[in-house]
Amino acid sequence: MDGAAARIPDGPGLHTVVLAPGADLAGFRAAARRLAAAGLPPERVAWSAGGTGILFGAADLAEAPPLRLPRAVADLVPMVVPHRDPERYALLYRLIWRVLSGERHLAEIASDPTVHRLGRMRKAIARDLHKMHAFLRFRRSETDGAERFTAWFEPDHHILEAAAPFFVERFRSLHWSILTPDGSAHWDGTHLSFGPPGQRGDLPEGDGFEAGWRAYYESTFNPARTNPKAMLAEMPKKYWRNMPETLAIPALIRAADPRTRAMIEREPRLPARRDPERAVAAMGDDAPKTLEALNAVIARSAPLVPGATQAVLGEGPVGAAIAFVGEQPGDQEDRQGRPFVGPAGQLLTRAMAEAGIAREASYLTNAVKHFKFEERGKRRIHQKPNAGEVSHYRWWLDRELDFVAPRLVVALGATAVLALTGKAVPVTRARGPFRFERFDDRFAGFVTVHPSYLLRLPDEAKEEAYAAFVDDLRRAEALGRELAG
Ligand code: URA
Repeated sequence: MDGAAARIPDGPGLHTVVLAPGADLAGFRAAARRLAAAGLPPERVAWSAGGTGILFGAADLAEAPPLRLPRAVADLVPMVVPHRDPERYALLYRLIWRVLSGERHLAEIASDPTVHRLGRMRKAIARDLHKMHAFLRFRRSETDGAERFTAWFEPDHHILEAAAPFFVERFRSLHWSILTPDGSAHWDGTHLSFGPPGQRGDLPEGDGFEAGWRAYYESTFNPARTNPKAMLAEMPKKYWRNMPETLAIPALIRAADPRTRAMIEREPRLPARRDPERAVAAMGDDAPKTLEALNAVIARSAPLVPGATQAVLGEGPVGAAIAFVGEQPGDQEDRQGRPFVGPAGQLLTRAMAEAGIAREASYLTNAVKHFKFEERGKRRIHQKPNAGEVSHYRWWLDRELDFVAPRLVVALGATAVLALTGKAVPVTRARGPFRFERFDDRFAGFVTVHPSYLLRLPDEAKEEAYAAFVDDLRRAEALGRELAG
């Protein structure tokens, strides 16, 4: 697809430039430089894409110096070259020629016919890229124990090379291929390469991975909120057949007869991203009335920061004497869908047992319900939630504590304290019994360190810090008993 292929015959008359099929950015840049250096105006150049062409040697093409273009023009070139319009190269060269001839601000004149057409092409490419990023779905396959993900996509334009880096970022630790009718992209965990076109039939058979997507989508789909027109505008039907979750859409829409609609309309709506508290208030009588109903809303909500596999809900009985509030689920919690099951959780469970607190009789939850992480190679590195994220999730925590109604709430670490108080209070200052004013003495409070803090300490400091942590939990346990008496 790349590999500059430009043929510029000598002599007077029309000069023909033959570029490689698809988006030949390198070829166009090299040819434009050469043509401009030779003083050839646009009316003496014919552009042909998709031919095999007679290749000039790279050294030959590199002879011309780089063009000195205003930023707006230089940035426009890669955004237009992937367009399928056969006139794209001619239009770009016309723009470049005029800019070099003195119309330095030409790209800012939106009413100019050339600028206008190129602007529309740029927008079409941006839209196409967005659709590919949003609607491409991988299928998983396994050969000799090696996992591979393959997707089929039919973009409107030649955007595969421009789109691929997004998928490298997103799925860096997987091995994947994207097949399109114009070419294919392949990532082996280290290198991105491009190859010949693929076919839809090259996709591996659908498997449980895909069925899982569909089940997930069916369970979150609410026909009462379906506006097929808006949905089609945003997600044109052409993409549906490659998206496992959309296979169910036509049936789901048909099932949404008026009665179903009326029934579903009464369901609580998912909280708005920005202001869940107000959204919950607006639910009025439809606001969740049980911990189970609240959890169903949480489970359906998108993570505030994309990436997490699922919402990790609180665990434990309603009416538990002690509720523990942590920070956010970690890697293991995100995979298993349960709080405090990873290394820090196991340490907490052990310390609780030593302090005489039964885990199954306690309530364990987190300030933030989704895992936030940064991908490094194959690892997902935990990222601390910021104050905005903590406040986004606070209404859930408050409602949870309303339903569970514990006698004592133990905050594990600074994020939990922030969630419960709304203020940044250092754990070293707050450690021990603590009054969470916001809750008007509905329960007693206690602050201690987060168990992951103990894991991060140097070995020689671990033992003492762990003993102090168990000691804190013993005091909390005694406080819980005292409050019951
Ligand atoms: N850390 C937390 O704060 N919560 C978990 O669930 C796991 C680790």
